[in-house]
Amino acid sequence: MRSHLSVRELLNRAVLLLEGRVERPRLEAEILLSFFLKKDRLWLFSHDDETIRNCEDFLNLVKKRALNYPLEYITQKASFYSREFFVKEGVLIPRPETELLVDESLKILKNISNAKVAEIGVGSGIVSVMLALLKDDLEIIATDISQKALEVAYENAKRFEVADRIEFVKSSFLDNIEDDFDMIVSNPPYIANDFKLEENVLREPKEALFGGEKGDEILKRIIDLSIDRGVRYLVCEMGYDQKNSIDEYLKSRGIKKRGFYKDLSGLDRGFWARVEVERLDDKTNKRL
Ligand SMILES: C[S@@+](CC[C@H](N)C(=O)[O-])C[C@H]1O[C@@H](n2cnc3c(N)ncnc32)[C@H](O)[C@@H]1O
Repeated sequence: MRSHLSVRELLNRAVLLLEGRVERPRLEAEILLSFFLKKDRLWLFSHDDETIRNCEDFLNLVKKRALNYPLEYITQKASFYSREFFVKEGVLIPRPETELLVDESLKILKNISNAKVAEIGVGSGIVSVMLALLKDDLEIIATDISQKALEVAYENAKRFEVADRIEFVKSSFLDNIEDDFDMIVSNPPYIANDFKLEENVLREPKEALFGGEKGDEILKRIIDLSIDRGVRYLVCEMGYDQKNSIDEYLKSRGIKKRGFYKDLSGLDRGFWARVEVERLDDKTNKRL
């Protein structure tokens, strides 16, 4: 192969390599080439005759993508809430439906001044960063068991200038964190351990995906934790088939005020709960 090809020729080769492997081969070829050349996509169209060196390096990148390596890990970019976040291998790639978790949390937080929020499982930081950006009186503590995730989340908090309002702590759930919180927000791992995921998703960290034998075990632990810690509100993302088990569990734990939200495809996607457990006086048996 010639080592020098034009932008047009390179794009055509990339499309051929990606066809049948990814959903939008032309678009991805353009994204990959603009990433490789450090130019925007518009530049590609206005310079389609321009000769490019190191074509082999670019085509190796395309081949990696054709083998199902996630695009976001190659470009180290992911779009969320119309912003560009930094991501890298080892950290979950943000999903569009998680924007709803931010929206549902904000619906509750808008009525609380200077709220203190805990995010369990911060990942790339998208949820905490967006909450801090969209409500400027929030104080947030964000935990993760993954050091890599905490580092990426901190990078994003710096990028969006909210690092002074989010404390990142390496912790499982809220272990060793004594603070009181108005809200816990979480998009925890909620996929059942034996669920067969697509190959590209399996490139993402297992501890970000699998929530136990049934999948909802971590969600239930977070519900228990919210009750034990006297947190006022809990908002979580969950799997599309977990509404019944979560609803039953919230009910069994005495949480009356609760609701579920759907994603844009109409699938159940999360819940909120006012964590107000009915407590009875031991002697009189009346509500406290
Ligand atoms: C589904 S990802 C969500 C990441 C990010 N919040 C988002 O919405 O894209 C779940 C995250 O929870 C973290 N995690 C798993 N178990 C945890 C635990 N016991 N305590 C804290 N974080 C945990 C994983 O490392 C992962 O970053």
